[in-house]
Amino acid sequence: MCGIVGYIGTEDAKEILLRGLEKLEYRGYDSAGIAVVNDQGVHVFKEKGRIAELRKVVDIEVEGTVGIGHTRWATHGAPSRINAHPHQSESARFTLVHNGVIENYEQLKREYLSQVDLVSDTDTEVVVQLMQRFVDDGKRVEEAFRYTLSLLKGSYAIALVDKEDVDTIYVGKNKSPLLIGVKDGVNVVASDAMAMLQITNQFLEIMDEEIVIVTRDSVTIKTLDGTIVTRNPYTAELDASDIEKGTYPHFMLKEIDEQPFVIRNIIQKYQNEDGTVRLDDNIRQAMKESDRIYVIAAGTSYHAGLVGKQLIEKLAQKPVEVHIASEFLYNMPLLSENPLFIFISQSGETADLRGVLVEVKKLGYRALTITNVPGSTLSREADFTLHTYAGPEIAVASTKAYTAQMAVFTLLAVDTAKARGIELDFDPIQELGIVAAAMETLCDQKDALEKIAREYLAVTRNCFFIGRAVDYYVVLEGALKLKEISYIQAEGFAGGELKHGTIALIEEGTPVIALATQEHVNLSIRGNVKEVAARGAYPCIISMEGHHGEDDTFVIPAVHEHLTPLVAVIPMQLIAYYAALHRGCDVDKPRNLAKSVTVE
Ligand code: M6R
Repeated sequence: MCGIVGYIGTEDAKEILLRGLEKLEYRGYDSAGIAVVNDQGVHVFKEKGRIAELRKVVDIEVEGTVGIGHTRWATHGAPSRINAHPHQSESARFTLVHNGVIENYEQLKREYLSQVDLVSDTDTEVVVQLMQRFVDDGKRVEEAFRYTLSLLKGSYAIALVDKEDVDTIYVGKNKSPLLIGVKDGVNVVASDAMAMLQITNQFLEIMDEEIVIVTRDSVTIKTLDGTIVTRNPYTAELDASDIEKGTYPHFMLKEIDEQPFVIRNIIQKYQNEDGTVRLDDNIRQAMKESDRIYVIAAGTSYHAGLVGKQLIEKLAQKPVEVHIASEFLYNMPLLSENPLFIFISQSGETADLRGVLVEVKKLGYRALTITNVPGSTLSREADFTLHTYAGPEIAVASTKAYTAQMAVFTLLAVDTAKARGIELDFDPIQELGIVAAAMETLCDQKDALEKIAREYLAVTRNCFFIGRAVDYYVVLEGALKLKEISYIQAEGFAGGELKHGTIALIEEGTPVIALATQEHVNLSIRGNVKEVAARGAYPCIISMEGHHGEDDTFVIPAVHEHLTPLVAVIPMQLIAYYAALHRGCDVDKPRNLAKSVTVE
């Protein structure tokens, strides 16, 4: 959460910083700010709201070839101009942007800053005031920076500029992502490479508890005790067009439409020439050796994990537990003797998962991360990584990453089955190919789904989703998609569970979206539909070809019964998209949310 950029080069920094922040807006968008540095000093512009609001207050006359910027998702202090970054020290000598949470900021304030009037309610301001305090006490700037960071508990990615040395950006990192982009005579700082792709595709990773001193011509990495670290840059394999909307009105719609391509891409990346699945031998071995798999995830990735459990248990016959990351640490189940942990995360940065991963590693267990961002924290810190190859997902509501995660789970389950000598009557490559084609058919039915959204959801206050067996997991995702972007109160339920309480909420006209893709529960889910209809609900039945009814609202093309979630979710994504659109919501950037949840 929160995005950081920095630039030191030869061009005017303003537009580069603003464009970079626009690319990072998915990380938080309740306020934003930049600091432009020139010989006259450090000029700070900040505003509540989106980058578009910030643009209105930036003085175009102010020019400078150095600068830092920030887009915020508020944790400490309301989203306001005063709490927006950059923050400055009392004398305005130091200016700083920060992503993360300083857990001990109250204590630091008491211990070191009792004489300082802090102007914001943020944890961040403490850091910049500490810099000033230690420099006033006689420390050199770099020394003060390392000392300040050594006092911080929690997570941070920081960029700092000094009015008295306008040719340097000081950078530090612990647990929050931050990269340095390098080029001749120009260096940049970014929370995500995509923010600075227009400048360079060469990036240097920064490890936790390292600082970087960035000038136009040099990048010096040091540990907090001052030891120099050498590291080579890597090439960011990102295509600038992947992070543009193109002709689409929203990233979410583009990303929904990309799903057939993503599935085909996954097939290609994980296929041997003879058509069998290709996975890392070490992952196969770890899956084979473990006596139980623990899947840890949050949000949409958790929903993919539930489907993953079905796939691994059904195909590889290995027991799987799926846990919400934020609960796992505080309510850890009794673990088996030889567990393997699978962390599923689109971003690879989710703090709740990282907390569990750190603990799991301390306990000496092995971990596999399934992620869309291979260089991410969760990927680096796990023993193994499986890449989901979905391409950058920009819309806050996850769509293509979810189906990609399930496709990768399919291949992992089949590979594990094979390693265990289990004969399967299921060719994943062929079946995923059928899924990709069915996805295409669904993406071509936008008009029908838009009509459903209008008919059922244009004015409603709430909506229930029901499903049984694996359809239950898909309706959880359908409900999450709808609520997060349309603000309709939407809940997913196991079909049989509704009458144990929630049915009390059904009123005349309450929309109930029922998913029926599974033959063995087809009759029972239809029975549940009748129960709610008898109480006035307005049911919408989404079923699968082969066992659909004449009056079903929408019929999905048939795919293998193990893979129905990959296609059944598409109507749900599109219904949510159109419902949000009809209600005038900001589809790609829903209120209160951020794409990457890097605070616990
Ligand atoms: O990057 P991750 O997959 O770890 O993110 C987990 C959740 O924050 C994420 O899936 C969230 O629920 C999305 N907004 C759902 O659309």
